[in-house]
Amino acid sequence: MTPDHPRIRIDVHGNGGTSEECLEEIRKALLSSPRRLPTKYLYDDQGSALFEHICQLPEYYQTRTERQILAKSADEIVAHTRARELVELGSGAATKTRLLLNAMARANQLHRYIPFDVSEGIVRRVAQELIQEYESLEVYGVVGDFLTHLEHIPPGGRRLVAFLGGTIGNLQPEEAQAFLRSVHQEMAPGDFFLLGVQLITDTGRLEAAYNDRAGVTAAFNQNILRVMRAVAGADFHPEQFAHVARYNARQHRIEMSLRSLRDQDVRLTELDLTIHFARGEEILTEISTKYNRHHVEALLQSAGFVPVAWHTDPEHLHGLALARKP
Ligand code: SAH
Ligand code: AVI
Repeated sequence: MTPDHPRIRIDVHGNGGTSEECLEEIRKALLSSPRRLPTKYLYDDQGSALFEHICQLPEYYQTRTERQILAKSADEIVAHTRARELVELGSGAATKTRLLLNAMARANQLHRYIPFDVSEGIVRRVAQELIQEYESLEVYGVVGDFLTHLEHIPPGGRRLVAFLGGTIGNLQPEEAQAFLRSVHQEMAPGDFFLLGVQLITDTGRLEAAYNDRAGVTAAFNQNILRVMRAVAGADFHPEQFAHVARYNARQHRIEMSLRSLRDQDVRLTELDLTIHFARGEEILTEISTKYNRHHVEALLQSAGFVPVAWHTDPEHLHGLALARKP
């Protein structure tokens, strides 16, 4: 806890991703077939800044589409939920979140915002920004992994829990199911859950969103190798790995990888491990699953939620599912 300001509290869990458990998770991912890296390591301070830049790219339609839906629906969502507190998982820069906070403020219901993110720098920055922007708002930030630290969300009542942007799609299918069950478990009966999902659309549009012409997504992807230098003492040379993002139509997901441009050995001192990468070999860094309404509502129901509303844009590129814990 850091007493930055009387209206801010920030709790940090998980030691910034450098614990023995985290190192073991990295070892397991890199030694699996195909090789992987845990997606959360895309988001150090630099990665979070690159993601904010991605959100402004012409090809990355997802952010502006979700913003458009929220601009139209936030008042209705807030009226429906009567929430006094907003808990946001994977909150990042909380830019679109302002639309929900504004609607809560208009309804005289805004008391506390609880951003939860693995990226400490961004949680601290957002807390400082929001207490300036909203008179009397309390911010209780939680820095941690939403797959393992959800129990650290402080208790409260009349809550809306939001998980926006389509970040659910970055979880493996079994992780997404377990995650939704844990979210449900942490909520009180009568609380609401707002889930943002990216919808299935044509392959050209999807692949363009992850292969932008300015190369920002490539830099975002390669940054994970720099994070591995800090976290696992890895001597990766990011320029020796090319950004790859393809749509897997069978599993309705973008798969983002780094492809080794030559035969090379990488030493990870913190893991006491040397890995040989053959030329052309890939490391999967992220999946980004696309859904349809039926699939999302079935996922929510299997976690115990009751879907109560569905908001989308005219082109059906993005969906916001509102669900209630009975
Ligand atoms: N909600 C924002 C940001 C989406 S980017 C938006 O819609 O634009 C995904 C966010 O989730 C990042 O801020 C990242 O740091 C966070 N994140 C990714 N994996 C995480 C994990 N395992 N635990 C907690 N936060 C995570
Ligand atoms: C955070 N998440 C929903 C983004 C996505 O579209 O899957 C992350 C991202 N990766 C590359 N570009 C954006």
